[in-house]
Amino acid sequence: MVTFPEKGMSEEEVLDELEKRLSEDLTFDSGKILGSMCTYPHPLAQKIISLYMDRNLGDPGLHVGSRKIEEEAVQMLGNLLHLNKAYGNIVSGGTEANILAVRAFRNIADIENPELILPESAHFSFLKASEMLKVKLVWAELNKDYSVNVRDIESKITDNTIGIVGIAGTTGLGVVDDIPALSDLAQDYGLPLHVDAAFGGFVIPFAKALGYDLPDFDFKLKGVQSVTIDPHKMGMVPIPAGGIIFRKKRFIDAISIPAPYLAGGKVFQATITGTRPGANALAVWALLKHLGFEGYKRIVKEAMELSRWFAGQIRTLKGAYLIREPMLNIVSFGTKELEKVEKELKRRGWGISAHRGYIRIVMMPHVKKEHLEEFLKDLKEILKAV
Ligand SMILES: Cc1ncc(COP(=O)(O)O)c(C=O)c1O
Repeated sequence: MVTFPEKGMSEEEVLDELEKRLSEDLTFDSGKILGSMCTYPHPLAQKIISLYMDRNLGDPGLHVGSRKIEEEAVQMLGNLLHLNKAYGNIVSGGTEANILAVRAFRNIADIENPELILPESAHFSFLKASEMLKVKLVWAELNKDYSVNVRDIESKITDNTIGIVGIAGTTGLGVVDDIPALSDLAQDYGLPLHVDAAFGGFVIPFAKALGYDLPDFDFKLKGVQSVTIDPHKMGMVPIPAGGIIFRKKRFIDAISIPAPYLAGGKVFQATITGTRPGANALAVWALLKHLGFEGYKRIVKEAMELSRWFAGQIRTLKGAYLIREPMLNIVSFGTKELEKVEKELKRRGWGISAHRGYIRIVMMPHVKKEHLEEFLKDLKEILKAV
């Protein structure tokens, strides 16, 4: 039984114990974490967190400067996504951002039995949204290339549909749906389209600038009403830092709740969390300012090139096969005896998981070629043995 401590330990003792206990954790700088969308935070962001960890964006009347900086971060993200004026927040992650989008669509539609149409490849955060908000999920089939089948989405539109979801960078394969076609469809039926670019939002704009052939996915497309874009994934901001960006004020108005008794005065909150970290929003602002488009382009260039190289290696490996050509910096592959291979890779300390019949490698900024070479060496050995 773990009990509440009677007497306090010294700071040193606490730190010692933590250091020992956390030796069980896999860390990003070990180069062993290949299956996560998180990464080692940028050093500047770490500095900002330690300087400003007391700032609470849940009470913006107290932390007026922080609120203005959050607003600027939202505007910069909006600008990256081709919006002149954005409405949104820096939130706890892609899950909260997706829930907020569903909440906005549901509240605006205001119908008895709301339904949301989304790809079978959608992230499980929509299951949480569905349960909490009492919105029925209507799943749309995928094409052979794992992008959503737009015709299937169309066939599922009813009077109860409150909106459509497209994904720009699926969790499993990094597939970018045909968002231009989804946008046209949404406009034809007068429905809002939410784009889950939690992962792709910090990849696609830069990859496009590097010459990669990827579809438009953002507010350039008139049907897109909201976008999830997560700074704590490829944005290199410390957890928690997600982003929800809306095209119009009415979406944020539809989810705003009065918070009357705050020390800084009454405000309206559109986020799920009340008290929320200001430092992470400041870190978003700081990294956008510090890295700029050019900085992120460099990070994405390395990640995309590494993905192509790694996909090439998998293609030549006996006993393994690519699930599809990578669109972004995610390479997923199947193997013979997948369960056994996964188990052995884990035993050798690799931070990967097999899901839906494949192993997913995410080329985050902490993943370097030498780590992948080590991994491939292990994988080859294991494939020979199984
Ligand atoms: C496409 C997509 N959307 C949403 C999420 C949820 O993000 P978070 O874990 O930050 O809540 C993820 C996480 O992997 C994701 O891949």
